[in-house]
Amino acid sequence: MSVQFPEEDGWIWRNGEFIPWKDAQVHVMSHALHYGSSVFEGVRCYRSPQGPAVLRLGDHMRRFTDSARIYRMELPYSAEELGACVLELIQRNDLEECYIRPLAFRGYGGVGLNPMTSPVEIYLACWPWGAYLGAEGLSSGVDVCVSSWQRPAPNTFPMLAKAGGNYLNAQLMKMEAVLNGFAEAIALNVRGMVSEGSGQNLFLVRDHVLYTPPLDGGLLPGITRDCVMTLAKDLDIPVVLQEIPREALYIADELFFTGTASEVSPIRSVDRFPVGGGEPGPITLKLQKELMDLAKGLRSDPYHWRTPVRSTDAEAESVKARVTG
Ligand SMILES: Cc1ncc(COP(=O)(O)O)c(C=O)c1O
Repeated sequence: MSVQFPEEDGWIWRNGEFIPWKDAQVHVMSHALHYGSSVFEGVRCYRSPQGPAVLRLGDHMRRFTDSARIYRMELPYSAEELGACVLELIQRNDLEECYIRPLAFRGYGGVGLNPMTSPVEIYLACWPWGAYLGAEGLSSGVDVCVSSWQRPAPNTFPMLAKAGGNYLNAQLMKMEAVLNGFAEAIALNVRGMVSEGSGQNLFLVRDHVLYTPPLDGGLLPGITRDCVMTLAKDLDIPVVLQEIPREALYIADELFFTGTASEVSPIRSVDRFPVGGGEPGPITLKLQKELMDLAKGLRSDPYHWRTPVRSTDAEAESVKARVTG
């Protein structure tokens, strides 16, 4: 879906200061443009009766600093400090609900492959962004295919890192799917077993049991995946981490994607096989509702997943003051 960026009056955080949205530009010789040397996050802030709150902010910022560490990018801020900057950024942009994109990349410096001669630049941006697979996809489900592209083998591209370069593989999958009339693609891993979507993790329901592939070096450790597994356990839905053969997709009772952008997106067909009755199933809908109610402050949050944007917590305020001046 297309996005309305706040070009005129938005703010972006860059290396410790807030700059106007339109001034956040990079040089064409920046290392990341040539070699894919960036790491990033996708985080969501939800409107709620208690005010806007970010879902699993600490976990996202930790994955961000982990991704940077894997690529030997030194960030002069801790995950906690960057989280405080995210909260400040949302307030500056006066947003009640938004998508947040932390990004670190190798900038303008060396032109050779060695990334360590290029400086690390850090940006935080946020903007309003609706349902990634469309509002109708969230309610009725999406049509997907199994991609002819595979996920990389372990020890090729580190999948625990959310790195820009990984998304070249994801783009091939997504383009193939869209050009063939599907909303999304599911990739198999190097062993021919089900891995994940181009930008989502995948769950399968059969006989009231929830299955998802384990972290095998070929898929991103999704934070929404973790939310869904936690909620399922609390709802007494058995959760099994196991390798899933492709044909299991064709005989599943329910299938759904999880992701920060995609939230819990039901899949209504795969390779033109209707999933279950061709409509979102009860376990998918239950988990979708539980997660969205929690994110939107409509139910309790026993896991402390929500961070209010306008904090009254003195400790959070002091971190904010330290990093945003
Ligand atoms: C390849 C890939 N897998 C899975 C996910 C889901 O991860 P999360 O739930 O942390 O957003 C994403 C989205 O970030 C992704 O890009």
